[in-house]
Amino acid sequence: MPPSRLLVTGGAGFIGANFVHYWLAKHPGDRLVVLDALTYAGNRASLATAAGHPSYRFVHGNILDLNLVTGLLREEEIDTVVHFAAESHVDRSILGPDAFIETNVVGTHTLLKAARAVWLAGSGRPHRFHHVSTDEVYGSLAPADPPFSERTAYAPNSPYSASKASSDHLVRAYHHTYGLCTTTSNCSNNYGPYQFPEKLIPLMMVNILHGKPLPLYGDGQNIRDWLYVEDHCRGIELVLERGGVGEVYNLGGHNEWANIDIVRLLCRLLDEAFAQDPELIRRFPDAPASQGRLAASLITWVKDRPGHDRRYAIDAEKSRRELGYLPKESFASGIEKTIAWMLANEPWWRQVMDGSYRDWIGRQYGA
Ligand code: NAD
Ligand code: DAU
Repeated sequence: MPPSRLLVTGGAGFIGANFVHYWLAKHPGDRLVVLDALTYAGNRASLATAAGHPSYRFVHGNILDLNLVTGLLREEEIDTVVHFAAESHVDRSILGPDAFIETNVVGTHTLLKAARAVWLAGSGRPHRFHHVSTDEVYGSLAPADPPFSERTAYAPNSPYSASKASSDHLVRAYHHTYGLCTTTSNCSNNYGPYQFPEKLIPLMMVNILHGKPLPLYGDGQNIRDWLYVEDHCRGIELVLERGGVGEVYNLGGHNEWANIDIVRLLCRLLDEAFAQDPELIRRFPDAPASQGRLAASLITWVKDRPGHDRRYAIDAEKSRRELGYLPKESFASGIEKTIAWMLANEPWWRQVMDGSYRDWIGRQYGA
């Protein structure tokens, strides 16, 4: 069943906003309704270019509001939910897990209840509930372990990953018990435009531009499997178009990097950007390159994240075989695009770095 009337939850966040732009460009005739509570991580500015699109509507609201969600599914005759809305930052889940249980567990359950009421007990319309999840539900890998496959046992280690694992189980149960047409994708670490600068890659870039310390947790050798966000959006599109009902698909980048190597790469690429474009020296006088220093001189070792997972890696063979999924972007080209986007969109990241962000960074690093 090709989607044609979509409800995208969390569409003002990082991946959600990229998905909205991707979908409107590729499927301009589809109705696309965004539902977003605009938490600290949600930003209307990330959707500014979607605003004029005739098929697009933004609803400021919470996925915990059952009446609102049920009303939207009915009134907009939604046939496909793409569920991104979540609390997504591991460090925040360690400091305050409650919001993660509320949004990620109770919020997902609220959406499932609404979908069941409208699609199964009500219209009987062909439908799809797609749940966007994470590789963190599988726990942590040792260096020689094979990557996570869809058959890997769940072993979530942080309040964030435990809340996502709970939501994955609820989605599974609503398919198994009630026959709701669901799919789930478990994806590795994303990077790219519109990512909130609390996550590793944009945080390090913004700190280099401001000449602030680059805080590396532990020994900096933790490994993540990085995927350019547009490849994730295309993976979700493939799941919606070709995925089997009730199935789970892993999406990843075949791109494992230790944190220290990523930070060194960002330092080198930004030093080179300053050398090539003297205008950057005027715009960012506090950056090390503006003062004749190397960005890598900002690297600072800080206390490790409690329970820090050592390594994630995704086996995306099922998605390749069944959906034809393969990431298109290389890490070199994806990082280059991301740096270019950050340098061209300074007003965007300055705007999202409001008081709440500064409070958070201050608490974390005493900045
Ligand atoms: P994000 O934190 O950037 O955005 C989350 C969005 O959800 C924000 O717009 C926020 O306002 C909205 N939101 C939060 N609580 C809400 C609520 N109760 N009701 C309505 N809207 C609410 O997150 P992201 O990085 O874009 O991640 C999106 C999804 O993808 C999440 O489910 C996350 O678990 C998953 N995921 C993320 C990554 C990654 O690397 N970022 C990787 C794999 C999976
Ligand atoms: O794997 C998918 C997950 O990736 C998503 O489900 C999460 O929503 C997303 O936030 C991300 O989780 P991580 O914890 O891996 O991402 P983060 O950017 O917070 O950290 C990446 C790595 O960098 C991790 O090993 C911790 C380390 N780190 C992070 C920050 C913010 C540092 O060393 N210093 C930092 O300041």
